[in-house]
Amino acid sequence: MKKDVKHLGDYWDSIANIYNDAVTISLDEFHYGPLVPGDSVLKLLPSELNGKRCLEVGAGAGQNSIYLAKNGASCIATDISDKQLEYGRIISDEENVDVEFKCASMEELNLEEYGEFDLIHSSYAITFSPCPQDVISHLSKMLKPGGTLLISTGHPLFTGEWLELDGEDGLFLTNYFEPEPDVRLDDDENERVRSNFYPISEMADWMFNAGLVIERIQEPKPLAIERMSPAQIKNNVPYSSKGWCEYYPQLKNVPALVIFKCRKL
Ligand SMILES: C[S@@+](CC[C@H](N)C(=O)[O-])C[C@H]1O[C@@H](n2cnc3c(N)ncnc32)[C@H](O)[C@@H]1O
Repeated sequence: MKKDVKHLGDYWDSIANIYNDAVTISLDEFHYGPLVPGDSVLKLLPSELNGKRCLEVGAGAGQNSIYLAKNGASCIATDISDKQLEYGRIISDEENVDVEFKCASMEELNLEEYGEFDLIHSSYAITFSPCPQDVISHLSKMLKPGGTLLISTGHPLFTGEWLELDGEDGLFLTNYFEPEPDVRLDDDENERVRSNFYPISEMADWMFNAGLVIERIQEPKPLAIERMSPAQIKNNVPYSSKGWCEYYPQLKNVPALVIFKCRKL
């Protein structure tokens, strides 16, 4: 997989402090993304974590790796941005857990010396890669037979525009088959990074072509934050931010993310 992605790391380094200040992510729950329930509800993780060898991709501060390590797993958290990982090093020290943080792009992961993994997981990162299908194929090769790949990523329906028409809110989607990307620009309107979105069946084909069996697909509804105070949201929602809470009226009706749980044959 030959892709020049170094400039993407510069972008994620530059927003590491903004991202980590803006989001609240639990260390006592495995999260899948904005406002949705964690694994104690969705139950997609392998039932036994103790002694499992786990790899996180696009980890940010690696809160999910920290959670898994607290439960006895042996964890490596990787990210293209060392500044994002720096937050994880600090948090894992505070929590007194051992996670190995490694700066590497998902397109060029070379972890042969670690052997094969029982669990590879990634939350809201894979579609920031220009070639996510190649990444899935590469990750599949790093799994043990019977191992689990757990990917949560942006849902194509969330790319539609939320509009009010005749007193009712709803989704205006111009083209499900070619969803609008999320493009982030600099002050001069130059593109810095983009997340592409893909139809569900196209993503399922990445898994199929990588020799994986899809065991579950989840499009989780958000937790009912309208009945929670800001403090309750912080304490009870595994992944939250003020920005995502503002999207709640839309998230109640349209999934923002999709989760694939796959097994290597
Ligand atoms: C939206 S953040 C999600 C972080 C974390 N998974 C979480 O749930 O908080 C996306 C992460 O993907 C990382 N990332 C983006 N492109 C990447 C790439 N090509 N290789 C590895 N990591 C990448 C970014 O540095 C960032 O930490």
